[in-house]
Amino acid sequence: MSECFRVTGGARLDGEVTVEGAKNSVLKLMAATLLAEGTSVITNCPDILDVPLMADVLTGLGCTVEIADGRVSVTTPAELSSAADFPAVSRFRASVCVLGPLMGRCHRATVALPGGDAIGSRPLDMHQAGLQALGARMRIEHGAVVGEADQLIGASVVLEFPSVGATENIMMAAVLAKGTTVIDNVAREPEIVDLADMLGQMGAKISGAGTSTITIEGVDVLRPTEHRTIGDRMVAGTWAYAAALTRGRVRVRGAAMQHLTASLERLAGAGATVTPQEDGFTVQLDERPRAVDFITLPYPGFPTDLQPMALTLAAVADGHSMITENVFEARFRFIDELVRMGADARIDGHHASIRGRQTLSSAPVWATDIRAGAGLVLAGLAADGVTEVNEVWHIDRGYPHFVPDMVALGAEIERVG
Ligand code: UD1
Repeated sequence: MSECFRVTGGARLDGEVTVEGAKNSVLKLMAATLLAEGTSVITNCPDILDVPLMADVLTGLGCTVEIADGRVSVTTPAELSSAADFPAVSRFRASVCVLGPLMGRCHRATVALPGGDAIGSRPLDMHQAGLQALGARMRIEHGAVVGEADQLIGASVVLEFPSVGATENIMMAAVLAKGTTVIDNVAREPEIVDLADMLGQMGAKISGAGTSTITIEGVDVLRPTEHRTIGDRMVAGTWAYAAALTRGRVRVRGAAMQHLTASLERLAGAGATVTPQEDGFTVQLDERPRAVDFITLPYPGFPTDLQPMALTLAAVADGHSMITENVFEARFRFIDELVRMGADARIDGHHASIRGRQTLSSAPVWATDIRAGAGLVLAGLAADGVTEVNEVWHIDRGYPHFVPDMVALGAEIERVG
């Protein structure tokens, strides 16, 4: 837990990097295995800390989980425990995605709620309202979300905001409900489509994933399957921004360029050349980046998870950028660390105004979440001297072999402690 990364600024990233499966997909795919008795296999699984944490959650519910060589195999028993109230759950937020499958399969669930999250308030009201519409009785009790139903019955649900987690939980409960569920104003993220694809292979009847309305015809039973996780667009996007920030050239493999349209368009606006390639793309920038404005929005808008990378780019760009955060209010805490590295940034509510400087100034800094951690490493690449990024376990939660990949691209970075 006390490890840090020492990043020496100034290197130009040049080379090729391959991205593994998406963290935000694989954790939900693992949760989906709860819906069918038998052994399901998920491939292209990233080598990140959150995967064994999720495996602990599933094991606590009665599953047997094996993880090896990018494959996760989950054997789900006929009788599941419906209570995820052990320490593993409180360690990471994504464990909440077992709520929908447990309600679908067991008609009851007790899922301990994780503690406060550094990126801001993350309530579960929409998850609960959706499950309630399907006939469940939901309550928060002793630090856990508790659901009970005699039977789940298909219903019409309208989300107040296209929440990724609520869309996934309601979808995973509705696949085993009686009758038809229509969920409106759903999240359209590629990870939702990936989950719907896997559920479809398991025998679920889902249409509309990737659009704003998902329709689900409930079925009686699902079967186990084998499914390949889509590539991680956030890791791919991080490499794209690292290339531009260091005025380098990076060929990214393993992620779909069309999942990063908004992020790559912004990079092109900053002066980068983005070239589609088979199985990925290349980003190159030879000059100082130009200032660009960013507004985070649900997909297909600019992703909040790449906001720290956008802020870092703006901090060294030529000109003045405005960045607006619409998804997680506390994500701007990252700016405090950037300011300690000499960034000229001011926050007004959910807007940040940034005047780019030629370079940042190295400093000891602290990662507060996965993406902020990666953003600070990028800031270190654009700073003079040696930046020490602390609390790097956050980065290990979402970025497989981050340091070796950076080193292979020419960065000066080492893990210490
Ligand atoms: C997921 C991603 C996260 C990403 C986020 C937005 C995973 C494991 N995490 O998080 O990396 O940044 O999508 O793209 O996939 N909200 C409510 N009530 C609810 C649910 C959400 O008010 O019941 C709010 C949240 O506080 C937040 C917004 O809705 O302001 C978006 O949250 P949501 O899309 O649910 O994010 P997560 O699924 O938690």
